[in-house]
Amino acid sequence: MFKIVTKRVLSAVNKLMEIEAPLVARKARPGQFIILRVRENGERIPLTVADSSKERGTITIIFQEIGKTTKELGSLQEGDYLSDFVGPLGRPMELPSSGRVVAVGGGVGIAPIYPKVKAFYDAGLEVISIIGARTADLLILEDEMRAVSSELHICTDDGTKGHHGFVSDLLQPLLDDTSKKIDEIIAVGPLPMMRVVAEQTRPYGVKTLVSLNPIMVDGTGMCGCCRVTVGGETKFSCVDGPVFDAHQVDFAELTRRSRTYLDKEKIALEKFEHECRCGGEK
Ligand code: FAD
Ligand code: FES
Ligand code: MG
Repeated sequence: MFKIVTKRVLSAVNKLMEIEAPLVARKARPGQFIILRVRENGERIPLTVADSSKERGTITIIFQEIGKTTKELGSLQEGDYLSDFVGPLGRPMELPSSGRVVAVGGGVGIAPIYPKVKAFYDAGLEVISIIGARTADLLILEDEMRAVSSELHICTDDGTKGHHGFVSDLLQPLLDDTSKKIDEIIAVGPLPMMRVVAEQTRPYGVKTLVSLNPIMVDGTGMCGCCRVTVGGETKFSCVDGPVFDAHQVDFAELTRRSRTYLDKEKIALEKFEHECRCGGEK
């Protein structure tokens, strides 16, 4: 059992939890993730290691409540326990040795991009960060991102904070500024956003990475659930990724695959919310 030692509400739908998991904390590196189960019969969900402390023996996760399991997780309190917490999984991120990096985090991708930006910044790289969300209330980690970025640009789809528009609008002038060479771009967010960034940077020939979020089950390369086509080859995101060359990813296939269980996810959420309202068994 894994204890929730800290819980912070970042916005109406975004929460941060620090989980006591000393064995995971001892090995976790930026770019990796964990898979947890809230309770014994619950489903397994992957979440990025947002931070880790060997001294405290803890892993920090930041998640957006979008469906049944993330809502159930968000309903837990400090002192409660998770039944499983497996990791660290996935390949640690490779850091460029020097240069200028642009990090683009959209919506649910702001949480997973934060530890990557922090690692770039700690390694002495110049990091220009762009974060965006549908509306100001969903924009999380602004202060944390500012603290580890050389520049921070903000946008919202509805104009309630920062630039009124999309992360791609803010990326474009950086791509066009030939006086400042970009060595690497990393984008994390919803699939349509990562796909747009990949197409936007392709003509410029700038190395562009994305951290993919396909459906995962075991997280160890055995179930095949997280398979993606990258450069014409089948890869398993959980062991070969989750970070891949954006220009090589077959986004059309990934988008189709990620929609496989939409009906079941909707039913599971409705059932969970009904049970919560009735105070019944979850
Ligand atoms: P559901 O209603 O069941 O699903 C909503 C959507 O989430 C689905 O349509 C699907 O696209 C996705 N999803 C559902 N089940 C899974 C699954 N088992 N594996 C992967 N995706 C799934 N989210 C965060 O908020 N913070 C993070 O740091 C974060 N890191 C991630 C790291 C990796 C490597 C991956 C693959 C995903 C990450 N996610 C993260 C996404 C997170 O796993 C999903 O939001 C979560 O599983 C949704 O579960 P649910 O039951 O609440 O929603
Ligand atoms: Fe099963 Fe990757 S999650 S192979
Ligand atoms: Mg689910």
